Amino acid sequence: MLTRTILIIIMAMIVCVCHDVSDRDIAREAASGCRNFASLQDELQVGLGCGSCVPCARETFAEHKAMCRQRAASPQLSKNPILTPAS
Ligand code: FES
Repeated sequence: MLTRTILIIIMAMIVCVCHDVSDRDIAREAASGCRNFASLQDELQVGLGCGSCVPCARETFAEHKAMCRQRAASPQLSKNPILTPAS
């Protein structure tokens, strides 16, 4: 019998090199109720160095806020550990 092993590797992507902020950090803040990008910057200092990461950080934050809204609307998604950001 053939046994299949599915390996899921979830790696963090560094979004802001100046302040060592990953996409997981942004996801965690979005999930914990951070309301807007200015608040995210207050918490993580993302984009407050050279500023080159701001477009990517904004997009990442917007994506995770959208996922949080979807989870809130669908209780099934909130129970899925793969879709829940690591804390
Ligand atoms: S890479 Fe984010 S401020 Fe420089």
